[in-house]
Amino acid sequence: MNKPILCAGRLYCDLVFADAPRLPTLGTEVFAPNLSLCAGGGAFITGATLASMGHSVWQFSMLPAAPFDTLVLADMKEHHVVATACKPAATGVDPQITVAVGLQSDRAFLTRADGPALPDPTTIRFSDFAHLHIGELKTLQEMPALLGMAKSAGLTVSLDCSWQDNYDKSAADLIAAVDVFLPNEYEVAALAAVGVPETCAPLTVIKSGVNGARARARTDDAWTQSVAAPVKVVDATGAGDAFNAGFLSCWLDRAPIEQCLSKGNACGAAAVQALGGAGGFKTTGERVALPDT
Ligand SMILES: Nc1ncnc2c1ncn2[C@@H]1O[C@H](COP(=O)(O)OP(=O)(O)OP(=O)(O)O)[C@@H](O)[C@H]1O
Ligand SMILES: [Mg+2]
Repeated sequence: MNKPILCAGRLYCDLVFADAPRLPTLGTEVFAPNLSLCAGGGAFITGATLASMGHSVWQFSMLPAAPFDTLVLADMKEHHVVATACKPAATGVDPQITVAVGLQSDRAFLTRADGPALPDPTTIRFSDFAHLHIGELKTLQEMPALLGMAKSAGLTVSLDCSWQDNYDKSAADLIAAVDVFLPNEYEVAALAAVGVPETCAPLTVIKSGVNGARARARTDDAWTQSVAAPVKVVDATGAGDAFNAGFLSCWLDRAPIEQCLSKGNACGAAAVQALGGAGGFKTTGERVALPDT
C-alpha cells in the first residue's frame, strides 16, 4: 500500500455566508440567506481534493480552538482526511476563523490567525509518509526545520505560496529547497519584486486562473503551458489548492508534465464550478465530478 501524503498548514473553521445581497458597511446589517460552516485553509483543501481522488491523506495542523474544533474535525472526517496528527490549540489562543461573505460574483474574507500554524514536528514520524505538501510559504518560514526533517526521511516536498502582504528575499532559499513550488501569477510577481527569481525551485508551477497554468524545471529553458477549459465560475475560492491536488496526484505517479498540468487544470475547473472551501468538492452534499484527463 502506498504511504500517505502529509498536508501541513494553517487550519481554519470557515463561516461562509452565501448569496448575500451586498457587503456589510459601517452602521448597517446584512442578512445572508445561506450559511455553511466547514474546515478551510489551503493545506486542507489540497488534502481533501487528494483524498477525493483516492489518496490517503493526513493533516498536520493546530486545530482551531473550541468550539470550532468539533466542526472542523467532523468536516475532515467527511472528506476522509486523517486528523490524528493535529493538536488542540493552546489555552488562550483565539479560534482560527475565516468569515467569508459571498455575493453572486465574489467573496470578501475576514480572518483571525493566532498561535502557531503547526504542532511540534517531532511528534511526526516522517518516514511513515511519501510526500509533504505545505499549504503556505509563511508556515514554512515559521518552521523551516520541517523541510530538513521531511527530506532526510526521504519525502518529496511541495509548497504553495499563498498571498502575503510582505515577502522578502530570504524566501528564495526555502523555495529552492522544495521539489515543487506552486504560486499563482500575483504571488510570483510579488516575489520577483523583492528579488526572488521565478524559477528558483527545481520545478515551478504557476497558476494563471482562467488561462490555466505553466510549469518549468530549473534546468529547462522554456515553460510548458496548459490552457484551462472554459467553465462557468460559481466561486473561485480554493481553485489554486484544488489545482495543487490534481497536479501532485499525477506528479507523484511520475506522469509527464503535460498530464500533471492538465489534471491540475481539471481540478481547478471543478473547484470554480461549485461553492465552498474544500475544493468545491462538496456543496450541498454533492460532489463535482472530476473529468478524466
Ligand atoms: N475561470 C476559470 N476557468 C477555468 N479554470 C479556472 C478558472 N479559474 C481558475 N481555474 C483553474 O484553477 C487553477 C487555479 O486558479 P488560480 O490561478 O485562480 O489559483 P489561485 O489564485 O492560487 O487560487 P486560490 O489561492 O484562490 O485557491 C487555474 O490554474 C485553472 O486551472
Ligand atoms: Mg493560491
